Amino acid sequence: MAKNICVIGVGYVGLATAIGLADFGNYVIAIDIDQSKIQQLQNGNMIIYEPGLQELLTRNTSANRLKFTNSLKDALDNSEVVFIAVGTPENGNGDGNVDIQYVENAVNDVIQNSNSYKVLVIKSTVPVGYNRKVNERIKKANRDMDVVSNPEFLREGKAVYDFFHPDRVVIGTDSEKAKEIMRDVYRTLNRINVPFLWTDWESAELIKYASNGFLAIKIAYINQLACLAEQIGADIISIAKGMGMDGRIGPKFLHAGPGYGGSCFPKDTKALSAIAHQFGVPITIIDAVIEANKKQKMRIVERLKKRMPNISGKTIGILGLAFKAETDDIRESPAIDIVDELLKLGAIVKVHDPQAMHNFKEKYEDKVSYCNNEYEVSKDADALLILTEWNEYRSLDLRRIKSAMKSPYIFDTRNVLDRDELNELGFSFDLIGQKTMEA
Ligand code: UGA
Repeated sequence: MAKNICVIGVGYVGLATAIGLADFGNYVIAIDIDQSKIQQLQNGNMIIYEPGLQELLTRNTSANRLKFTNSLKDALDNSEVVFIAVGTPENGNGDGNVDIQYVENAVNDVIQNSNSYKVLVIKSTVPVGYNRKVNERIKKANRDMDVVSNPEFLREGKAVYDFFHPDRVVIGTDSEKAKEIMRDVYRTLNRINVPFLWTDWESAELIKYASNGFLAIKIAYINQLACLAEQIGADIISIAKGMGMDGRIGPKFLHAGPGYGGSCFPKDTKALSAIAHQFGVPITIIDAVIEANKKQKMRIVERLKKRMPNISGKTIGILGLAFKAETDDIRESPAIDIVDELLKLGAIVKVHDPQAMHNFKEKYEDKVSYCNNEYEVSKDADALLILTEWNEYRSLDLRRIKSAMKSPYIFDTRNVLDRDELNELGFSFDLIGQKTMEA
């Protein structure tokens, strides 16, 4: 049976969840403390760049299965299931722990304003042990409510695909009644045989951190191997391919790059490390990954400096500001660390990104110049750095780029360009994980 659901928080996860659950046939009311976001969504406008989401928003609001409101009371009165999907950013103390205040506020609001049975689903990534604490609080407040930990595994840029085709759904709870209701909420996935893992709160919470941590390990490993390959004169693309052919390793998350970014891996690796230390069982491999990723971002500038020992006064063009392709998100993007360092060294920085420019402008204002396309960035540039693997950068007119540049040097940190073509056209170039090429 279709469920009446309230989703608190319309960030990436909350919005994709609200829209996806409505598309399953449920009736969803989404709410957020940011009234301007709610207003835009009420007007039918998407608030983030996420392929496919606008169409689904339109479809489900037209079908009256999806609404946006500012009134938590109304949303709760009409819902049996309440998802909390608000952010848990770093707390800013530098100890790796997250700031749980937004989840706390949402939990308190739900406890205070509920007067009928609810399944309270915590989707936000919370510290291990948090769901149990919320359950204790609910019991103390004498509310009729079951707590479910339901971590999210969707990727930005692929949120729609991931929502409808998850590798698994993890549900942590001790309540049989809540399990039945969650089966209904996700019945569409049940029907297409998506595996469900039913477990306890702590395991569900840790699965989330453990998964992101493992993926970060894979990336840090391939990035360090890329560094070694550059010294040896081997090719990281072949190495990753050869490793990935082993079914036990798998080919995914072995793309060398300028280091992982985004709102998840940097925060979740630090939080996992902090949790492990608090329990007295450090996961030292994660500590090493955090360190390696920091170095990887700076290694890009170091390699550029080998080509260009004096960066001061040089014009550097940057292609790609988002932390990955298909998103406008620049949180913890390698582009930030790299541009900061280049500016510190006195470079003149020109940038382009197909989607993320507005976010970069907000942060950098007039410290860099914003270009309409790849060719404008190249104009009079002494070096061009590709930092995000946007598809449009794979098919650049390199001849045009070369004639626009002051000196034709490209550093492709995502391996989107073809080395033979760069060679033929007489570029000086560096590709990540491949030996240095002179023109
Ligand atoms: C990540 C996880 O993949 C999701 O499963 C999880 O739900 C999400 O975090 C979250 O916790 O909310 P996301 O951060 O959107 O998703 O993006 P990813 O595709 O995982 O990429 C993360 C970073 O790793 C990016 O900077 C990307 O460029 C980098 N990366 C990824 C590599 O450098 N190499 C790779 O092979 C893969």
